Amino acid sequence: MTTQAKNSRLFHINVTRQCQLACSHCYIDQDIRDNDQSMSVDKMQEIADVIGDTNADVHIIGGEPTLVGIDTHKQYLSILSKLPSSKIMIVTALQNARAVKVAKLYQNIATSYDPNARIEVNNDKWLERCKELRGCGNNVHLCVSLSQSVIDYGVSKALDEVYGFGFRSVHLAAMVPTMNALAETPDPMITSQAMIESAEWALEKRRVGEDGIFVSPFDGLLQGMSNYDGLRCPAGESCVNVEPNGKIHACVAKGGEVKDIVINQMQSTETQLSSNAYILEVAQHNRSRTECFGCEFWITCKGGCRVLANTDIAKNSVECAGFKTFLNYVKGKVHV
Ligand SMILES: C[S@@+](CC[C@H](N)C(=O)[O-])C[C@H]1O[C@@H](n2cnc3c(N)ncnc32)[C@H](O)[C@@H]1O
Ligand code: SF4
Ligand code: SF4
Repeated sequence: MTTQAKNSRLFHINVTRQCQLACSHCYIDQDIRDNDQSMSVDKMQEIADVIGDTNADVHIIGGEPTLVGIDTHKQYLSILSKLPSSKIMIVTALQNARAVKVAKLYQNIATSYDPNARIEVNNDKWLERCKELRGCGNNVHLCVSLSQSVIDYGVSKALDEVYGFGFRSVHLAAMVPTMNALAETPDPMITSQAMIESAEWALEKRRVGEDGIFVSPFDGLLQGMSNYDGLRCPAGESCVNVEPNGKIHACVAKGGEVKDIVINQMQSTETQLSSNAYILEVAQHNRSRTECFGCEFWITCKGGCRVLANTDIAKNSVECAGFKTFLNYVKGKVHV
């Protein structure tokens, strides 16, 4: 996801899990996306107190975070903007004009391109909204999820399109294979091949003089195989996913699948972070698998996504959850 400094942490603050779309690749179960609870301003303050002066990457996410009222976002921002060392970003599908109004409040916006057009989202309108935000001086970061549909469409074709839209930096995200997203989750070898295709696309662009291209994970790895954290599972790095009611998980998939029992007396963020449940969850995501013993890429991938590794798709694949075929390809490029 995001490159983090040493004492940093990634916070995914799910201000609501509600979403009006139903993307085929979404890791969040529909019944969780139907919940319209939003995060209180007090809870945001409590999380900000925990973040303090650390170098946190703070993602305002969901669900669709722009469904929370604009006045509430202004209150969230009056708290978050006081964090001295954190990078704040909203993650939105930019599904309607109202989403633009909310997104505009945030200097950094992440959105994703789906060439198959997300259900109910018209790509032309999505592009207009991206251009409007860029025109206002906001930074619009782009992500493309490597779902089976996107791979069937063609990774190079999708990259050509986003290049044509004016994007020079794009992050390709491997699928988080929850139950909801399983049908869109490719065999890891297919994901490796898609990442290699993206690398070849970037190299070809540079060969013809386009030097401003950055396609991750490839370019992130080129800059430093062991420094780049984009292939490591954020849960193993003590990522904090906060639900609208304040419940915390280390793994992004868990919040998308496990429906919280509504607890009126939710423990504080600080208490949950030092609880055995959270510490155990992080430790489970750092446990090595026998296939990883002695592997030269361990530092780079730390075994990849555990949810992926535990699927039958990965268990029946000749490829590992760390995309070793792709890592070997990158290694070949580093040494030329
Ligand atoms: C869950 S969405 C929430 C924010 C907003 N609704 C959106 O779609 O941008 C955050 C990001 O995760 C991506 N995403 C959703 N499901 C995924 C999955 N199963 N695997 C990988 N990425 C996924 C989305 O495409 C989006 O870029
Ligand atoms: S990926 Fe985002 S826009 Fe699509 S259903 Fe999930 S939360 Fe909604
Ligand atoms: S590349 Fe594959 S085998 Fe090697 S450490 Fe990563 S997940 Fe394990």
